[in-house]
Amino acid sequence: MASRRQLTAFEKTIPDYRKRILISIFQALLLPPIFTALAVRILAGRSLPLLTVLLALASIPSTIAVRASYEEWFQSREARRLGARPIPRVRGRWPGNFDVVLKIVKSFESGYVLQGFADLFEEYQCTTLNTRFFWGDQIVCMDEGVFKFVAQTGFEQFEKGILWHERIDKLLGTGLFNAERELWKKSRATARPFFAKERISDFEIFERTSKAALDLIDARSAAAQPIDMQDLLSRFALDSAALFLWGTELDTLGQPLTQPGRVKLGPKGSMPIDGGGAFDVFTEAFERVAVLITRRGVQGDTWPLLELFEDKTEGPIDVIMQWIDPLVKKAVAKKEDMRRRGEKVDAKSEDTVFLDYLADQSDDVEHIRYELITFLIASRDTTASLLTFAIYFLSFRPDVCDRLREEIIETFGPEETPTYGKLKAMTYLRAVINETLRLFPSAPLVARTSLDAPLVIPTAAASAEPPLYLPPRTQIMMTSLLTHKRHDLWGYDADEFKPERWLDDALTAKVSTTPFMYCPFYGGPRICIGQEFAQNEAGYFLVRLLQRFSALRFAPDFMPEGALPPASWKGQKGRQGVEQILPAINFTMHSKGGLWMFAEPVAS
Ligand code: HEM
Ligand SMILES: *[C@@H]1O[C@H](CO)[C@@H](O)[C@H](O)[C@H]1NC(C)=O
Ligand SMILES: *[C@@H]1O[C@H](CO)[C@@H](O)[C@H](O)[C@H]1NC(C)=O
Repeated sequence: MASRRQLTAFEKTIPDYRKRILISIFQALLLPPIFTALAVRILAGRSLPLLTVLLALASIPSTIAVRASYEEWFQSREARRLGARPIPRVRGRWPGNFDVVLKIVKSFESGYVLQGFADLFEEYQCTTLNTRFFWGDQIVCMDEGVFKFVAQTGFEQFEKGILWHERIDKLLGTGLFNAERELWKKSRATARPFFAKERISDFEIFERTSKAALDLIDARSAAAQPIDMQDLLSRFALDSAALFLWGTELDTLGQPLTQPGRVKLGPKGSMPIDGGGAFDVFTEAFERVAVLITRRGVQGDTWPLLELFEDKTEGPIDVIMQWIDPLVKKAVAKKEDMRRRGEKVDAKSEDTVFLDYLADQSDDVEHIRYELITFLIASRDTTASLLTFAIYFLSFRPDVCDRLREEIIETFGPEETPTYGKLKAMTYLRAVINETLRLFPSAPLVARTSLDAPLVIPTAAASAEPPLYLPPRTQIMMTSLLTHKRHDLWGYDADEFKPERWLDDALTAKVSTTPFMYCPFYGGPRICIGQEFAQNEAGYFLVRLLQRFSALRFAPDFMPEGALPPASWKGQKGRQGVEQILPAINFTMHSKGGLWMFAEPVAS
């Protein structure tokens, strides 16, 4: 057994989720019967066992029902008082909307991605909805006006919230993604200079990792074999992030790849049949924790019930922390060494990696470690997802692929390495990236929780409806994936992959006046800090890819069992009817079972 790691100072401050769930259970299931039994005893003056048991049992649902009705009445009154209307409520057939919960869970498991919520919006003809799952307020939303309020105008009124922190604090600690208020401000201000233009326009890292990845595709092509692009791109993104963040050659691209025809469905992508892990301990711990934390999210605030005796993320988090620890210690030692010699860390220098820079800004080893984990998580799967889906689209749209190649060859010829300025000026490349993130935004769900005050949320400018009333301490889940496909915003062809739409001035004008109709990177003060970096990395890779390969071909026969859409999807409305893979969400978007592809090298 590996020895238990010492708890960090931050971990000692995390409230115990077990205590929270036990108190809720006590309040809902034990308190009403105890009161009832006492009341019977006092009113009747003697013990009446049968009556007591019956009434005590009945008291549980009746307390819930009375509380729910009171809440609804109270909220309507509050809404009226504030000149707003309550957010439309889902009204299921079973108590607690349990029938709708089941439908959503089933849709998450086997339906088209987020279709369960799309159907609810359709049924209720609205863009913001209170699910009232298990009698609690829980908002899902695809409204650009509400997004704008939460992300920007009402920014100060929200935080990530207790449900978020309970799931994720142990992993992300004091890192930028997780921090609130003053701590967040400080963390953001510290990281910002590192993501300035001069820093992220150094493409040397991308060249190293792209070349390694493309050589692997080449080797498979030479053997007339396909390759799992999703796996390859995750390694590419991880190796790039490791070089950028801490200057270490992780070289997951150098480790054995999965073999065509010898894979089964893994937690996210393809997995070797013989169980031989293609990934090392660190990467595996990483994947495991992402799946665990997503599962907690799907289970909502009841997840602690399944982890009463064991926090399942503990094992993988120990592995991650212990792996990163020596790197951080080395950076801190290096800094002290430089200080002694009177040298300074230069944030602008090409040789300075994020870790050195962080070490220069702070002596807090624990915080630096959290920050590294944060950036690694935030950058790896998102970028891999963008590239995976871009390649998916290019394989089904040879016309788009050809046009993109034309732009690439015109700009860089068959061999020249891309530069920041020229890459930025490639309109068609940008359009392909924009369009991919429209249909498959890598991080399609963003959640926020309101503070202790009720709020009035203005709806979209175009809407004539009165504003919405949001009860205090309520979580809103924003689904950019659904907003990006709304026909009223994007037109009748919203479900189609059409990069050309981004070349239409009318559309770009509309997006710039209604920015939250398109928000793959979120928006407001907490907008993705790595937006430019990600677009550069993805753009760089696509240029290098199409300089060497002229066409991509999906290899459905090599997808593992269970990774292709069922026949019943054909002809369904929206993307469900045309999708050739199973898009899923675990933290970020991915293609279930991976993405096996043949690539055709350019004739030389
Ligand atoms: C296609 C690629 C990417 C997409 C679609 C994306 C999307 C997002 C989204 C939607 C958020 C807001 C999440 C939330 O508040 O819950 C976010 C935040 C963040 N992203 Fe990205 N991201 C991408 C790549 C990257 C990269 C490459 C990095 C780092 C190198 C990065 C670092 C971060 C960080 C640190 C935050 C938290 C910012 C804060 O809270 O102040 N992201 N990203
Ligand atoms: C891509 O989307 C952004 C909005 O995020 C927009 O400002 C930009 O003009 C688009 N670029 C192209 C080339 O489509
Ligand atoms: C997470 O991934 C698994 C395996 O690919 C998939 O079955 C599940 O539906 C995903 N979760 C969600 C919420 O999409």
